Amino acid sequence: MSRSNVRLNPLECAQQALHWIHRDALTQDDIAALNQDVLDCFREYVNPGFLEYRKSVTTGCDYGAVEWCASGPNTLIDTQGNEYLDCLGGYGIFNVGHRNPNVIAAVERQLGRQPLHSQELLDPLRGMLAKTLAALTPGDLKYSFFSNSGTESVEAALKLAKAYQSPRGKSTFIAASGAFHGKSLGALSATGKSAFRRPFMPLLPGFYHVPFGDINTLRKQVQQCQKTGDDVAAIILEPIQGEGGVILPPEDYLPAVRALCDEVGALLILDEVQTGMGRTGRMFACEHYGVQPDILCLAKALGGGVMPIGATVATEEVFSVLFENPFLHTTTFGGNPLACAAALATVNELLTKNLPEQAATQGAFLLQGLQQLASEFPQLIIEARGLGLLQAIEFRKNKIGYAFAKALFQRHVLVAGTLNNAKSVRIEPPLTITREQCIRVLKEAKEALKELSDAMSDENNMKEYAAERK
Ligand SMILES: Cc1ncc(COP(=O)(O)O)c(C=O)c1O
Repeated sequence: MSRSNVRLNPLECAQQALHWIHRDALTQDDIAALNQDVLDCFREYVNPGFLEYRKSVTTGCDYGAVEWCASGPNTLIDTQGNEYLDCLGGYGIFNVGHRNPNVIAAVERQLGRQPLHSQELLDPLRGMLAKTLAALTPGDLKYSFFSNSGTESVEAALKLAKAYQSPRGKSTFIAASGAFHGKSLGALSATGKSAFRRPFMPLLPGFYHVPFGDINTLRKQVQQCQKTGDDVAAIILEPIQGEGGVILPPEDYLPAVRALCDEVGALLILDEVQTGMGRTGRMFACEHYGVQPDILCLAKALGGGVMPIGATVATEEVFSVLFENPFLHTTTFGGNPLACAAALATVNELLTKNLPEQAATQGAFLLQGLQQLASEFPQLIIEARGLGLLQAIEFRKNKIGYAFAKALFQRHVLVAGTLNNAKSVRIEPPLTITREQCIRVLKEAKEALKELSDAMSDENNMKEYAAERK
């Protein structure tokens, strides 16, 4: 029965939830009640559609793995006490590990002092984080606008580019097919996947998409825009496409894009929401290619896996369009003291623990192992690829990738597909993952692949998989 008409008591609902927040240990009865309650809440009040997509929920939604706490930097526990090795990293937010004690300590100190700011006096941490990012980011990037998510950081970048370029008569944007920049109307206009875009058409005018990694097509599109007077305000790219399936461009692509931007007076916006903060083995992925953007988008891991925060960092030349009227683009919560405390402690962790370097070392080991598996199971896998600890295995069919993620989940290793490319399963653990844990991932992955391979050669399944591979 749908409960949409049942009268709920809001006080009871809130108090019931607070009761769980204040609990430490759970009895068997608690676990059953909590799991049922959470499933009901998702089905009736969040979105029943989610339950269909979670590999942690069995067919028919009769059991769901409900997460309870982080048990270590790279592991989490569900209400039943099952521990999962996190190779998903919350889609790239746990670079410094789960519940990083130094990030928590900074946030707790600030929580005790002043969680949110007055909006009128100058909030110290916002200033200090902006200065820290100016020092951390490449090239002349200097001024920061803070928000609460990756989408908002992209939205701010697009608006900044428009404000800078409209007096110069340039208003169009070029993005890449397969790109993911978020799902607000502005960010979605840059995102390159039809399934996410189609229901919301028409999106912002003046956005063109070209294949990622192909400089000739990009150049032609820029020239085409010039011919029709739709001069390009900015080119927006992820240095490595994350949700597109972890797609690395040719080595000379980004430098050529930078040169093209300079040639025609377009801005280069790099979206490092997922690739930034050490993920690919350098602090920012653009550093692998020696390229400096005019505007850099950050979020996800910037908050240390503790607080949400987004940052749009720009050169003084570009950002100065907001000097005269800083209220042109604002947000109440962006850059709040708790988020800034988390981000400052995160930068400190990344630098003092050399986490980008660790990502490079463990990433190279893991990737070598995954590529070995790809050569052992060519009937299942097209390739394994990545940089640092942003990696993906591309399967021959969506369904095989999904079955692999599910088989790993059953072995208590958490991975997931990428949003724009369902055939590719991402491996994106915290940068704190140990060598032993990498070895375990490879061992469990091999067993999962063997199981899938055996299932495929089973006569009943054979037809289904063969049909799918067309
Ligand atoms: C490159 C990139 N940009 C933007 C976003 C959107 O970030 P958020 O989900 O925090 O709004 C994502 C999210 O996956 C992303 O990977």
